[in-house]
Amino acid sequence: MLFTSTIRVASRRVASNSRRLLSSSATKTASSQDAARKLAPYFAAATVAFGATQLSVNKNISQAEKPVDSDCQALLEQNSSKFAQYWPRNILILFGPPGAGKGTHGPKVEELLGIPQLSTGDMLRAAVAAQTEVGKKAQAVMKAGGLVSDDIVVGIIRDRIKEEDCKLGFILDGFPRTLAQAKALDTMLAEEGARVTKVVELHVPDEVLEERICGRWIHKKSGRSYHVKYAPPKSMEKDSDGKPKPETMLDDETNEPLIQRPDDTATALVKRLSSYHGETVPILEHYNPNGIVKQVNANQGMTGVWKEVLGALSR
Ligand code: AP5
Repeated sequence: MLFTSTIRVASRRVASNSRRLLSSSATKTASSQDAARKLAPYFAAATVAFGATQLSVNKNISQAEKPVDSDCQALLEQNSSKFAQYWPRNILILFGPPGAGKGTHGPKVEELLGIPQLSTGDMLRAAVAAQTEVGKKAQAVMKAGGLVSDDIVVGIIRDRIKEEDCKLGFILDGFPRTLAQAKALDTMLAEEGARVTKVVELHVPDEVLEERICGRWIHKKSGRSYHVKYAPPKSMEKDSDGKPKPETMLDDETNEPLIQRPDDTATALVKRLSSYHGETVPILEHYNPNGIVKQVNANQGMTGVWKEVLGALSR
């Protein structure tokens, strides 16, 4: 539990988005808003369990915005506690090389299903920023594009999935990254009768990734990700060579400066891709016999990728 609070903040991006959207209705009483907010993940979980995994965000919101009468609320609470007590958790792995789109599509899956996205990369970056013991150990390795030790990341995940918001399931992004991590995950899940439910592999050829990684800019606080070509911030201006002027790279929502990750360089990417192919890809073979690995063509526009991700998540 060395840096649980940092990890909580770092849970990739927008669990708060659905909460923000849910709380926007001015027509409800505070108590029904609270009830709706508490119950929203269970609507999603129940829907998933009964096979309608293509629940849209809008549908999710409109369900939650319906007034929740006391009978209905009691029934939902009863069902949600049944899920929490008896149903195995939904555990998804978003799999893919650096720049495949895990951070782009993960928050949308999070919003769709109402379960949190846990990014070991974000957690480690938060630890580096806070200069915790783990952060100090991870800093240089990460900058060079290497892998942090299995012990550290397994420990982080072990602690994080015990948190309340993971009760009905979670989305793993960037974990497991080695066979040893996959086996450690299987063991910790087996202890509670659960196992990995689905692995969604975002498949992109290596040659596409350098442009994606080297063109990425990030808003550090929120994790919002931009790309100079594919998803530029509104404020971006280019110099006479056609390169973005760094001072004009600002977050669309807060107008705060964007940054580039220290490992988002062509040199570090070579190492990141080498460990992806050498150590991470064998994990697909590990889960393949369970029939849970679904491949998505992530070498297309973001709308097309998202459509395929929805297909992969469906039963
Ligand atoms: P981590 O943060 O996990 O990095 P990564 O796996 O290299 O993944 P990225 O975040 O770079 O890629 P992404 O798939 O999220 O891409 P995005 O959606 O932003 O890990 C960082 C480091 O932490 C590791 O190197 C390691 O040191 C350490 N670490 C983490 N977990 C570890 C573990 N389990 N064990 C050991 N060490 C660990 O997309 C990239 C860009 O492309 C964006 O700008 C986006 O706008 C753009 N884009 C996305 N999709 C498209 C599209 N379809 N078309 C055009 N552009 C697109």
